Amino acid sequence: MTKNIVIKFGGSLLFSDGGTINSQKITEFCNIIKNNTQFDSIVIVCGGGTVARQYIRAIRASTENEVLCDLIGIDISRINSRLITSEMKELAYPQVPKSFEELSVAMSSYKIVVMGGLQPGQSTTSVAITVAEYLKAERLVILTDIDGIYDKDPNLHKDAKLLERISYDSLQKLILESSVNTQASAGEYRIFDAVSLQILKRSGMGVLVMSGKKLNQFSKFWNNEKEIIGTIISK
Ligand code: UTP
Repeated sequence: MTKNIVIKFGGSLLFSDGGTINSQKITEFCNIIKNNTQFDSIVIVCGGGTVARQYIRAIRASTENEVLCDLIGIDISRINSRLITSEMKELAYPQVPKSFEELSVAMSSYKIVVMGGLQPGQSTTSVAITVAEYLKAERLVILTDIDGIYDKDPNLHKDAKLLERISYDSLQKLILESSVNTQASAGEYRIFDAVSLQILKRSGMGVLVMSGKKLNQFSKFWNNEKEIIGTIISK
C-alpha cells in the first residue's frame, strides 16, 4: 500500500525548558520511525522553537522588519531540521530542501526527507500542509506540545475541553475568537494560523493534531493502534 506521510515536528519539542536541545526526544522520535518503516515516503517539517523566537525578538528590536524576523525563523527551523536528519543517519536525505524543486529531487532517492520553513509570512504548519497537498499525502500529523485543539485556551481556562474532531469552519471560528494582535507576527503563528487554515481548506485534507511531549501517542499512531488522544481536523 502506498503511504506518504507528512509530520510537523513542533519546535517546542526540540528544546527542554532550560533551552537545551532535547536529544533524547529526537532519538526517541527517530527510533519510532526507524522501527516501523512501512511507508513509501515521509517528510518531516521541523519548527523553530524557543531559539527561533529568541532570534526573532533580537532582530525585531533592531529592525522592526517582520520579513527579516520570518527569515531568521526559517533559518533556525532549517538548522533544527539537521538535528533530525543526522539522527536518522543514512536513512534520510542529507540536505535540507529549501524549495519544492529541491524536495522533489530529495524524494527521488530517499524515503525520509527533513525540512524547515520555506517563505516569510507563514508558519512551519503551513509548510507541512502545503507539502502534504503537493505529495497527496495519505496522512498529515502535527506534533505539538499540547494534546490537540481545545475549545478554549487550556493555559487560561481550567475547564477547556479537548476536541476529538473539529470541522474547518468551527476551527476558523475558534481561530478568530482567540486571535490577538500579535497572531500574524513572526514567531507568533499559533498551532493553526489563518494561512494554514486556508491551505487546508483548499486541499480538503484531514489532519491529526497530537502531543509530541511524551511520544506514546505518536508511537500508537505510527503502529496503527486505535484510540489515539488528539484532534482530527476535517471537512
Ligand atoms: P514556527 O513558528 O512554525 O515554529 O516557525 P514552531 O516553533 O514549530 O512553532 P509551534 O511549535 O507551532 O509553536 C518559526 C518561525 O519561522 C518563520 C515564522 O516567523 C515562524 O513563526 N517561518 C517559518 C516563516 O516565515 N516561513 C515558514 O515557511 C516557516
